[in-house]
Amino acid sequence: MKIILASSNQGKLRELKAWMKDFEVYSFSEVMTPFEIVEDGDSFKENALIKARAVYKKLNNKSAIVMSDDSGISVNALEHSPGIYSARYAGEGATSQENLDKLIQTLKDKDIKRTSAYYTAAIAIVCAKGEFCVHGWMHGDAIAQKRGDKGFGYDPMFIPHGFDGTLGELDESVKKELSHRSRALELAKILLKAVV
Ligand code: IMP
Repeated sequence: MKIILASSNQGKLRELKAWMKDFEVYSFSEVMTPFEIVEDGDSFKENALIKARAVYKKLNNKSAIVMSDDSGISVNALEHSPGIYSARYAGEGATSQENLDKLIQTLKDKDIKRTSAYYTAAIAIVCAKGEFCVHGWMHGDAIAQKRGDKGFGYDPMFIPHGFDGTLGELDESVKKELSHRSRALELAKILLKAVV
């Protein structure tokens, strides 16, 4: 089964491909010229559907199966921000490093050293049989410092529940086992088997 991933985020693509070894997976930039997709939905679900729909439409191939991931980190003490704005927390076009630095600085400005946070992943599938979306979450703490260089994005400041290290420090198998993306992917795989 050939699946096109509607994402250009290298960290996400790496994790999605590692999780879907039993499927034939391509990023959309491998099958077409990448184009800009305006993610103007007001939820992870809406934005995931916007991305998958846009790529499905452009492919113009009824047998295509397109999958997308919209995800982010939410900090309870910051009214659940950055949430759906995680990719542009430090401004439009900001790098992952700038977003990470801004979230750490925001916590420092509020004198917060460690506080509850969670990641959300919405995975959408668009194909001839319709549009579907599933979610996964990972809860833990955000800390006002960077530790480790594994993972991507906000991982060096996120400690999952039950662990002492950040996702930047822990072995990658830990994230693969319990991440928001892995949990959503488990459900997405059931959907994928049902739509082919
Ligand atoms: P999206 O590509 O619009 O969904 O943006 C996702 C944003 O959330 C990016 O800034 C990512 O760095 C961040 N993000 C999503 N999932 C993860 C993760 O598993 N670890 C770290 N950061 C993540």
